[in-house]
Amino acid sequence: MSRRDPHSFSDLDQGRVASMDLDLNVNFATSRIEGTATLKLAAKASGPLDLDTRDLEIKGVTDAAGNKLEWEITENDDILGSCLRINLNGGMDSFTIDYATSPKASALQWLEPAQTDGGKHPYLFSQCQAIHARSVIPCQDSPLARFTFTARMTVPEELTVVMAAAPGKAAEGAQSGTRSFSFEMPQSIPPYLFAFAVGNIVSEDLGPRSRVYTEPETLEKSAWEFAEVDKMLLAAEDVFGPYLWDRFDFLVMPGSFPYGGMENPRLTFLTPTLLAGDRSLVNVLAHELAHSWTGNLVTNATMDDFWLNEGFTVWAERRILENLYGKEAKSLASAIGRNGLMEAMNSFGMDSPFTQLETDSKGSDPDEFYSLVPYEKGYLFVALLEQTAGQEKFDAFIKNYIKHFSFTSITTAQFEEFLNAELPGISEQVRADEWIHQAGLPDNTPVFESERLAMLENLAKSWSDGGRPEVAEAKKWTAEDWQIFLQALPRTLPEADCVWLDEKFDLTSQGNCEILCNWLIIAAGSGYEPTFDRTARFLAEVGRMKYLKPLYTTLYAGEKTRGMAKEIFAANADGYHPIARGGIERIMAG
Ligand code: BES
Ligand code: ZN
Repeated sequence: MSRRDPHSFSDLDQGRVASMDLDLNVNFATSRIEGTATLKLAAKASGPLDLDTRDLEIKGVTDAAGNKLEWEITENDDILGSCLRINLNGGMDSFTIDYATSPKASALQWLEPAQTDGGKHPYLFSQCQAIHARSVIPCQDSPLARFTFTARMTVPEELTVVMAAAPGKAAEGAQSGTRSFSFEMPQSIPPYLFAFAVGNIVSEDLGPRSRVYTEPETLEKSAWEFAEVDKMLLAAEDVFGPYLWDRFDFLVMPGSFPYGGMENPRLTFLTPTLLAGDRSLVNVLAHELAHSWTGNLVTNATMDDFWLNEGFTVWAERRILENLYGKEAKSLASAIGRNGLMEAMNSFGMDSPFTQLETDSKGSDPDEFYSLVPYEKGYLFVALLEQTAGQEKFDAFIKNYIKHFSFTSITTAQFEEFLNAELPGISEQVRADEWIHQAGLPDNTPVFESERLAMLENLAKSWSDGGRPEVAEAKKWTAEDWQIFLQALPRTLPEADCVWLDEKFDLTSQGNCEILCNWLIIAAGSGYEPTFDRTARFLAEVGRMKYLKPLYTTLYAGEKTRGMAKEIFAANADGYHPIARGGIERIMAG
């Protein structure tokens, strides 16, 4: 037996699921999805086949002729879920599982109409990364197990299904009052990229290969904010080579979406907190687009290799930004990233194994050890390789890397081997071993200078000595300038300072969520009451963990605000995605 992924029960030596046909009914009354999954193996297999599940109700398993197959399921493991073992009788390559999901499925969020923009229809969406696909479909839930699929989803007739797959035709469902939507995914994907949403969803074309989907109330704003998507797509192809997923569409989600973005192939999911009205947060779209190569074409083999996914993607995101907005934009973003990295590393401890690029994540919950380290330390390492090899050589290397490993899932060791073969000597030159396998940040880290960043940080650092921005000047600052300035201010300010900031710059009524959240964190840490109503409203409207976690952490840490944190969480917990709810529960558990 060889289980190669510490976060999956699957054993690819037993057989490999190469494709799936899903036929699923979405029941909003019971918050369950019920139906069948027909799993097809790459080759005939016999004996036990282990699949990942979490909270699934298995009703039965049959072979292609409809004969019952034996199966058993293990007790639930908090991190991994349950292993469903199916006994394949003498050589078979296809079987069907009849099952239902649980109302508490960890990948799914069922929204009441009140939690949507329109307020009239319910909404359902999935978020499978890292190991939640198993709560929606019984599968070999490891990035090592890529598969293609077809899906038919039946929903109440007034709702629309969108999926990270090529859409087919919609047809009347078998039951009256229902409609069925068909999809096909001809390119093989790792299970964490399986994704769909159901709701009152409309769309608008933005370019020859791109369209934005969202609720009608949010369409116009979304179309404006991301109108530059085609330019980004062309810039990305320049760096990586041809786009192989046919279309790059995206879905602007309800407020409770727990991430900034998720690179579901053909249909990226985005938080509506990016709708700042000034295109200042489009880097997230560039990031998810970049995953179309680094991630969706070349995936990490297991969570130990996650940095291959995010580190290369942050590097690509910033290359795209540089291409569209110039060198200074890239330096500024890199410098902000460096600050975030130092904060993350310091909170783990500089010698913690979680500050390595390749990690040993066995026994840990991916949702718990999620941090900026694979993103920003990974980025710095890739940027160092780029600087050392020189632009031309490195660009060629990246294109080769993508081409060579397309549609596979690779380990860090495979990457190292490829690097040594393609750019001989570079590993020793940059001390790759230290970067990848040791904790902390090596002393040959590339430094990104930004005069603007230095000016803003120095200004913020002089705050306690009476340093203040010139009001007329600061009113002209960009959203990013404000973000940097607020992050560099002391975490606790005297009340008079809070009043001054808020009166001069109207921070509490900010529409840009990055500025607003950074301000609310300072105000919460300072016990500044006039913002508390806004904070409570923000925590009720937004489910993005990037904002929830620091706000709840700060509120919970303050004696004066701890009770408020508990009250706000009690009032909103049901409205958060299960992954976000779990994250906040961990904060409040100390
Ligand atoms: N794939 C990630 C989101 C993710 C990672 C979900 C791990 C679940 C487990 C996505 O590409 C991402 O990194 N999103 C960032 C955006 C960014 C760094 C610009 C986010 O959500 O903030
Ligand atoms: Zn990412």
